[in-house]
Amino acid sequence: MIFIKTEEEIELMRQSCLLVSRTHAMLASEIREGVTTLFLDKLAEEFIRDNGGIPGFLNYNSYPNTLCVSVNDIVVHGIPSNYQLRNGDIVSIDCGVILNGFNGDSCYTFEVGEVNPEIKALLKVTKECLYKGIEQAVTGKTTGDIGAAVQKHAESHGYSVVRELVGHGIGRRLHEEPEVPNYGKPGKGVKLKERMTIAIEPMINLGLREIFQEKDGWTIRTFDRKPSAHFEHTIVVRNEKAEILSDFSIIEEILNKQK
Ligand code: MF3
Ligand code: CO
Repeated sequence: MIFIKTEEEIELMRQSCLLVSRTHAMLASEIREGVTTLFLDKLAEEFIRDNGGIPGFLNYNSYPNTLCVSVNDIVVHGIPSNYQLRNGDIVSIDCGVILNGFNGDSCYTFEVGEVNPEIKALLKVTKECLYKGIEQAVTGKTTGDIGAAVQKHAESHGYSVVRELVGHGIGRRLHEEPEVPNYGKPGKGVKLKERMTIAIEPMINLGLREIFQEKDGWTIRTFDRKPSAHFEHTIVVRNEKAEILSDFSIIEEILNKQK
């Protein structure tokens, strides 16, 4: 069952998504060499609760934390720990918030200090993949159109697309129908309708697409141990142009000031 949202529900989701993005913006000034991923998690939890939200991932399928913090070859679902960030790391911070009963979900991959140009390019292209996918999220197109656009852009740069994890519908629940793969064929999959809310989240590997899950039951790593990037927006399907509910501009404002 796919839940089409009302405009009132979409406004509530916008508030949840904005709190996610404000959490990312707050974390942007804290990410540096030496900081532990668990410290970032504590900051995020405190910030979300101070702003009236509930961490959306905490206790979801027994997930133990507020953030998924995935460094370098960790694709997604990295559990915050005493690991200290190092110069040259990339760190994807996936964050969810529940506010007024609705979920917001977004992920941004940050650079720690000086990152090698080959890996910087991976981040740039993965973010572009996200926006290529969002361009397809209009009434009458399909989830296959989104996946095909993401896949084409990633593979044209020699990168590979993770298959086992996908984007998703989102609303009162973090994961609703439909699934939104980052690969596929144009015209296939589920037909998109105005006011569907979905999370589009390409996970793109520098090397091969294969992944494995660690014994902790969460951490997903690339099989070849090469880096992986992840960007995610929660969006609304519209008739002309998708509406993006999360907001990278407030994150990038902070990052650009640091330069
Ligand atoms: N953005 C991820 C997703 O949509 C985060 C889920 S992590 C979990 O699937 F811990 F909540 F499962
Ligand atoms: Co998601």
